[in-house]
Amino acid sequence: MADSRGGPLVLGIETSCDETGVGIVQGHTLLADAVASSVDEHARFGGVVPEVASRAHLEAMVPTIQRALKDAGVAASDLDGIAVTAGPGLAGALLVGVSAAKAYAYALGKPLYGVNHLASHICVDQLEHGALPEPTMALLVSGGHSSLLLAPDITSDVRPLGATIDDAAGEAFDKVARVLHLGFPGGPVIDRYAREGDPEAIRFPRGLTGPRDAAYDFSFSGLKTAVARWIEAKRAAGEEVPVADVAASFQEAVVDVLTRKAVRACKDNGVDHLMIGGGVAANSRLRAMAARRCEDAGITLRVPRPKLCTDNGAMVAALGAEMVARGRAASDWDLPADSSLPVTEPHVPGTNGHDHDHGHGHHDHDHVHELSKENLYG
Ligand code: KG4
Ligand code: ZN
Repeated sequence: MADSRGGPLVLGIETSCDETGVGIVQGHTLLADAVASSVDEHARFGGVVPEVASRAHLEAMVPTIQRALKDAGVAASDLDGIAVTAGPGLAGALLVGVSAAKAYAYALGKPLYGVNHLASHICVDQLEHGALPEPTMALLVSGGHSSLLLAPDITSDVRPLGATIDDAAGEAFDKVARVLHLGFPGGPVIDRYAREGDPEAIRFPRGLTGPRDAAYDFSFSGLKTAVARWIEAKRAAGEEVPVADVAASFQEAVVDVLTRKAVRACKDNGVDHLMIGGGVAANSRLRAMAARRCEDAGITLRVPRPKLCTDNGAMVAALGAEMVARGRAASDWDLPADSSLPVTEPHVPGTNGHDHDHGHGHHDHDHVHELSKENLYG
């Protein structure tokens, strides 16, 4: 049975974007990963429509929870806790997950853990490669985020080193795919076309790689515009657009910058482990180039399998299990869904939360919440 595997048994709920994810883990062991995606409903709009996503979460929530419990072969009453993405993400979409998590946790008499979506993307690798080394460097690349994060403790200490100043990496893939009329989401189809193309056919710009540019920030908006202009010029001249070469050259520019900056962040900070997560981590060229550059730099690369890189509930359960294992405080029942939850808050104890672990920093944060509650209620 589940108990023999060791570690806390936690169900995690993820609804920050268009995937209704429910995962169940025991410690570092994945027991179930049920995902219902509304991506097809957004395809004709070329991007995620928040209202459509919220409605789809509402419809998928209970069946997806039931499916996860069945897949894992555990009873809800056996759970040690329920974790949920408290943010960042789409406000209405987050609210569905947070409300469901509260309802289940309250009805079952289980502790509730509001966790950060970005920290969850990092923590999911424990299900693939075991305990995360501390510190770990993480490159998170998806349709919504592109960040370099230093994580000395995934449950309490995550530090942002850099992020995109405009488009996310996945967003650039989606926009370039739209210009090429390849449909949505763009990443997988560009990845496929790029395999037939020449990555050196067109030299597209590498954003923010000049000597005076921020070492760990990213910019993909200029690249996206350069690709669009190049395609327009071809079309205006009545020439055929070499889709595979454009896809390969664009992808090369993105992957070159991502891997270069990630390896540099590791070297500068003396970190010898790099994890890559988020939907773009499924990219075959990113995986290959990261593997080569990490090997050259003596860095151990950890990339979870693609299904764990895209949004899912298992990643939330993985971080929830780590919270339980480390004695972090459960969240209060007034846990808010916070669409702009800072990455520096892996864990949202709520307005009344107390962290049980006094060995790590970040207690000021809990304290501030307590003070503000005192002010509110006397
Ligand atoms: O993590 P995710 O499922 O959702 C969030 O955005 O949070 O990531 C989706 C993004 C999309 O932009 C999609 O185009 C991109 O990940 N993506 C890829 C690949 N597979 C998915 N980008 C590049 N190459 C891929 N193979
Ligand atoms: Zn995500």
